[in-house]
Amino acid sequence: MYYDKDIVKEGTSSLYEVCSEVKLPLSKDEIECLDGLLEYLIVSENEELCQKYNIRPGVGIAAPQVGVNKRMFAINCNDFLSKDNKKYFYTFINPKIIERSKSEIYLPNGEGCLSVVRDTEGLVTPRSKKITIKALSYDYSTKKIKNITMALEGYPAIVFQHEYDHLDGILYTSKMYKPEDLKNAEPLFEIDEE
Ligand code: NI
Repeated sequence: MYYDKDIVKEGTSSLYEVCSEVKLPLSKDEIECLDGLLEYLIVSENEELCQKYNIRPGVGIAAPQVGVNKRMFAINCNDFLSKDNKKYFYTFINPKIIERSKSEIYLPNGEGCLSVVRDTEGLVTPRSKKITIKALSYDYSTKKIKNITMALEGYPAIVFQHEYDHLDGILYTSKMYKPEDLKNAEPLFEIDEE
């Protein structure tokens, strides 16, 4: 399990490095890291546990954020705009984005990151509306690894692209724009003005 003290924060040089490909079979340390990332995201779903362990909740976490500069990350989010609120709880190892839509989207309330402990103002793009990805995925319950190809659209696609950027040493703070400068991207949803 990772705690707040384990999260590499903005400003630390390792967070801006390109991570290396993972070689199979996974090492014991790599499996421990993946288990830890998944556990962090499971605890994130429970407000009481977050308070107890003093962790900031997240919907995605990448290995370089816990000091492991390997190409792997985990996500745990719901596609809250879909009818069935579909859940995306996965690990991705050596992920590749093999297809991207031309259309771009952004979260109208901006993005956040476990490594960025300050309020940021600005909309984050480019984020493709639809992506097709290929990766190896490690299953927490069976402890097995399989090849996956997956199409992601909307919110889970944004979460994936945010985490994927971490593997290339990119923080969302380097991709922030003012609303008036975002001409080619659409908001994921409309926010009601108060
Ligand atoms: Ni992040």
